Amino acid sequence: MRNVERFRDRYAVSGDPALLAAEFDALGTDYSANGYTTPLQAEEIGDWLALGEEDLLLDVGAGCGWPGLYLAKRHGCAVISLEPVPEGMPALRARASVDGCGEQAWPVVADAVAIPLRPKSVDAIVHADVLC
Ligand SMILES: C[S@@+](CC[C@H](N)C(=O)[O-])C[C@H]1O[C@@H](n2cnc3c(N)ncnc32)[C@H](O)[C@@H]1O
Repeated sequence: MRNVERFRDRYAVSGDPALLAAEFDALGTDYSANGYTTPLQAEEIGDWLALGEEDLLLDVGAGCGWPGLYLAKRHGCAVISLEPVPEGMPALRARASVDGCGEQAWPVVADAVAIPLRPKSVDAIVHADVLC
C-alpha cells in the first residue's frame, strides 16, 4: 500500500489517553488528528462549504476521523471517512460515539485512487494533510 504503511503504527496507538491529552493541549480538540489542520481551519472549511444536516461529506484520507467527524458534529451532516489504513478505525468509531454521531459517520477502508462510490453521490469533499 505504498507510503501509507507508515501510518499503521501511528494509528495503532491512537486513542491513547496521553496522546489525546497532548493533542487537546496543543489544539483544543482530541480527535486523534494526525496533521496540521487546526479546529479554526476546519471550521472555516465547514462554513465555506455551507454544510447542513442534509449533506453527505466525504473526508478523503481521514486517518482517525479528523476533520470529517468534527464537521459532522458541528454541522449535523453525515460523513464518509475514507482511509486506506484500518488501524485508525477503532479510534474513529469511538470518537463518533462520544460525539453522538455514530449514525452519521460511515468509515470506509479504501484508497482514493479508486473511491468506491458512485459519481455525484456526495455533496462535498474535504481532505486534510493528505497531499503531503
Ligand atoms: C497526515 S495523515 C492526515 C490524516 C487526517 N486527515 C488528519 O488530519 O488527522 C494523511 C492520511 O492520508 C492517507 N492517505 C494517503 N494516501 C491516500 C490515498 N491514496 N487514499 C486515501 N487516503 C490516503 C494516509 O493513510 C493518512 O491517514
